[in-house]
Amino acid sequence: MTHIGMVYSRGRVEEKMLQEAAQRQGVQFTAVQDDTLILDLDPGALPFDAVLERSVSTTRGLYVLKFCGAHGIPAINRHAVAAACADKTETSLKLRRAGVPTPRTKVAFEQESALAALDQLGYPAVIKPTTGSWARMVARVDSRREAEQILEHRSELPNPVQQVYYLQEYVNKLGAAGEPTLHRDLRAFVVGDETIAAIWRNSPHWITNTARGGKASVCPVTPELHDLCQRAAAAVGGGVLALDLMETSAGLVCHEINHTMEFRNSVAPTGVDIPGKIIEYCVRQAKA
Ligand SMILES: Nc1ncnc2c1ncn2[C@@H]1O[C@H](COP(=O)(O)OP(=O)(O)O)[C@@H](O)[C@H]1O
Ligand SMILES: [Mg+2]
Repeated sequence: MTHIGMVYSRGRVEEKMLQEAAQRQGVQFTAVQDDTLILDLDPGALPFDAVLERSVSTTRGLYVLKFCGAHGIPAINRHAVAAACADKTETSLKLRRAGVPTPRTKVAFEQESALAALDQLGYPAVIKPTTGSWARMVARVDSRREAEQILEHRSELPNPVQQVYYLQEYVNKLGAAGEPTLHRDLRAFVVGDETIAAIWRNSPHWITNTARGGKASVCPVTPELHDLCQRAAAAVGGGVLALDLMETSAGLVCHEINHTMEFRNSVAPTGVDIPGKIIEYCVRQAKA
């Protein structure tokens, strides 16, 4: 029988849903807390046919996936895929290279060069950390003066990666018809070669993350959306991925790909068994 190991940090709602899905499917499933994990140069610490990586810490997750790769254990997702998603700069480079529409983006390392890059992009613009999630430290700047303040603050942060200034044009997201005051973007769930579900995230704030109060509603997976999602997922190497997209007057653009996504708020509106689909995929990837 296939044995799936899930490496996790905290038993969030998602991890419980995954465990229940495995039980429903009769799949042997062991949850390993990353606090307790001792990895070794020789295989043995992860005695599974496949590993589902669900660490809250991106750094821990990437190390676990390194060991899976070295020991020939199928991992969801592969280390290279997770590494490409963990860093917005790398994601953007891969999307651009694959010809997937993505917002105009520049990277600079100093306050002066970042301000010059923002002048080129024009205002409003968005300053993001190149790593991170839940919209932490994602800032919209409407003027050079605001940008100076944000950059000044970031320049004092101790982690040098915070001085990798990821600068992006502000995309005017098209809202739902009849709801001109709401911002919305789109989150699509890709599992292998399927686009299993998509939601719109509606919010009075331009930041629409459901972890920040964005409300999910079902978005139909049209052939066009599926095609774009497959191309975007393939650009980072494919797997179990959540794609963040924005609707513009020129069509959809993909601005982020998440490799250990939350999905608790997306199951009810879409009616799709997202954890079940993930477990099925893990079983398909498992060592024969
Ligand atoms: N260039 C942009 N223009 C307008 N809104 C954006 C832009 N980039 C991100 N957002 C919004 O900000 C939020 C967080 O951005 P995202 O890049 O997905 O970072 P995170 O990793 O923190 O989720 C999303 O709700 C998205 O709609
Ligand atoms: Mg996001």
